[in-house]
Amino acid sequence: MSNNEKGFDRREFLKGTAAVAGATAVGTLAPFGLAQAQSGKIKIGLMLPYTGTFAALGVAITNGFKLAVEERGGKLGGREIEYIVVDDESNPAKAPENANKLVQRDKVDVVIGTVHSGVAMGMAKVLKESGTLWINPNAGAGAVTGPLCAPNIFRTSFSNWQTTYALGKVLKAKGHKNAVFITWKYAAGEEMMQGFKEGFEKEGGKLIKELYTPFPQVEFQALLTEIASIKPDAVVAFFAGGGAAKFLKDYQAAGLKGKIPLYGSGFLTDGVLEAVGDAGEGVETTLHYADSLNTKKDNAFRLAYAKTYKLQPDVYAVQGYDAGQLLAAGLDAVKGNIGDKAAMIKAMEGAKIDSPRGTWTLSKAHNPVQDMYLRKVVGKQNLVQGVAWKALADPARGCKA
Ligand code: PHB
Repeated sequence: MSNNEKGFDRREFLKGTAAVAGATAVGTLAPFGLAQAQSGKIKIGLMLPYTGTFAALGVAITNGFKLAVEERGGKLGGREIEYIVVDDESNPAKAPENANKLVQRDKVDVVIGTVHSGVAMGMAKVLKESGTLWINPNAGAGAVTGPLCAPNIFRTSFSNWQTTYALGKVLKAKGHKNAVFITWKYAAGEEMMQGFKEGFEKEGGKLIKELYTPFPQVEFQALLTEIASIKPDAVVAFFAGGGAAKFLKDYQAAGLKGKIPLYGSGFLTDGVLEAVGDAGEGVETTLHYADSLNTKKDNAFRLAYAKTYKLQPDVYAVQGYDAGQLLAAGLDAVKGNIGDKAAMIKAMEGAKIDSPRGTWTLSKAHNPVQDMYLRKVVGKQNLVQGVAWKALADPARGCKA
């Protein structure tokens, strides 16, 4: 991506912000917050879910991010941090207004968010137009690093496609010839289904049924009955947070566990194993993190996280931590002068993130290029079985970077 970006051209920037301010009738704007650009605190807007089915995910991301900051003495690029926190409730309808509040009213320097792909799409319009630096620590919506890719938009997590594409190879190796995919009916579920379908069909497998329930509904009974009657070789699922815990328990209660093998993107079993008894036992998933990587970096991270929060970290905590690491790489390069956006972005684009998941870099579209692990639930852990796909990059379809 070039450094002469549209979003950072001053005239374009002013045009963009005027449009946003006009649309929302929210006061006047100090261009780039110039007074603040070189001294004082860096204002960080945390736009994440703190209520609802993804509440635990928002908390883990926040914890991870703050841990990265604390490891740097509470400062990034030599500057102290001020947090402005918004609970986005995983509600796409409120996303533009919430993002606008952070940009227009609070005049944040950086936005960190969010979890839900639909909410991220609502944020994208606002942040692309304002040019505010945005680090997305979870939401996998393909468009964010696809057609909507932009110099100021970064992601430290995954694209939805990335999390299921490698499963095709996994199922093929197990001898499964057909599968059913079950998920919530919204961008993340649909894109993970597509990623799986693409990978599985490449291996000669057949996706025989797509089953959906509206987000954030967790009434799975009718769909589980349908699965029992279809009797596929395998079931592949995307649910996360509270919804994932409920699905695992219902799958077991319906008598399907042990009869039809269950797979998924790793969100199905990350951060929920304490809550599901043995309902997750044996479930195999692909994801860019696992509980047993046993590397120096991961061990140090897990120890620090557990000490600080009295909780075990999960993939969401890692993504939040890496959002802090990526921002630190940018701010260090400009010695805290966040007004020097072009230099900051360049440094972020070239960063090699020493992550608990393993080292990763950014693609041209600003999405991590990373290993996808095959994991298996054993007890309360997602134990790594191997690398399902080395250095998997999202195809970034539609990104003109
Ligand atoms: C998403 O909506 O993009 C999403 C939400 C939760 C996850 C993964 C992806 O665990």
